[in-house]
Amino acid sequence: MKNAPLPEGIRLIDGWFDRDGQVALIAAIRAVVAEAPLYRPEMPRTGKPFSVRMTNCGPLGWVSDRAGYRYQPLHPVTGCPWPAIPEVLLALWGEVADYPHPPEACLVNFYDETARMGLHRDEDEAALDAPVVSVSLGDSCLFRIGGRERSDPTRSFRLASGDVFVLGGPSRLAFHGVDRIYPGSSTLLERGGRINLTLRRVTSPG
Ligand code: SIN
Ligand code: FE2
Repeated sequence: MKNAPLPEGIRLIDGWFDRDGQVALIAAIRAVVAEAPLYRPEMPRTGKPFSVRMTNCGPLGWVSDRAGYRYQPLHPVTGCPWPAIPEVLLALWGEVADYPHPPEACLVNFYDETARMGLHRDEDEAALDAPVVSVSLGDSCLFRIGGRERSDPTRSFRLASGDVFVLGGPSRLAFHGVDRIYPGSSTLLERGGRINLTLRRVTSPG
C-alpha cells in the first residue's frame, strides 16, 4: 500500500530521521515532557479518557476535555506555558511544510501498546492552508487515511520510527487515525511505545 500513489497533498517520507536524528529528537522530547508532563485528555461531553497520553510544545497546545477541543497557551494540569518547539522540528517544518510562517503548536502523542486513535480530521486550526507535519518515533503503527468525508474509502500503511508524514493541500482535511501499535517493532524507546509529533500552524497570519 505504501508504494501505491498517495492522494494529492499527502507526502510520506520514509526514514527522514536516521537513528542518530531519532535519538536526538527523543532527548529533545524528554526535555519537553520534563517541563510539560504527559497527561490523559478526555473526550468532549462524555469525559471518556483517551487511550493516548498527550502534551504539547509551542506557543499554543491542542487540548481536549468535556468542554471540547481547542488550542490554548497553558498546560491544563500545570497551568504553565508550553515549552518551546525544539529547533530540529522548526527546521523540519522549514524543509517540508512549504508555508511561509512557523508552526505554533507541536502536539506530542504517546501511545502505549494498546493505545489507538479513532478516525478524525484536524480541523481546529484557522490556518487550513498550512499542512500538518507529523513525525513517528519508536514502535511502528498501522495508520489509516481516508478522504474528506468519514464515509470515504480508507487505506492503511505502517508508519515507522523516523518517518515523516505531511497532510496538506487538498488532503489537509482528510480523515485519519491509528488502528494499532506494533509492540517491539523498535528499540528506540527503552520501554517501548510510540511517540507521534504533529506540527501545526493554528492562527492565520494577517
Ligand atoms: C494525530 O492524528 O494527531 C496523530 C496521528 C499519529 O499518531 O500518527
Ligand atoms: Fe490528527
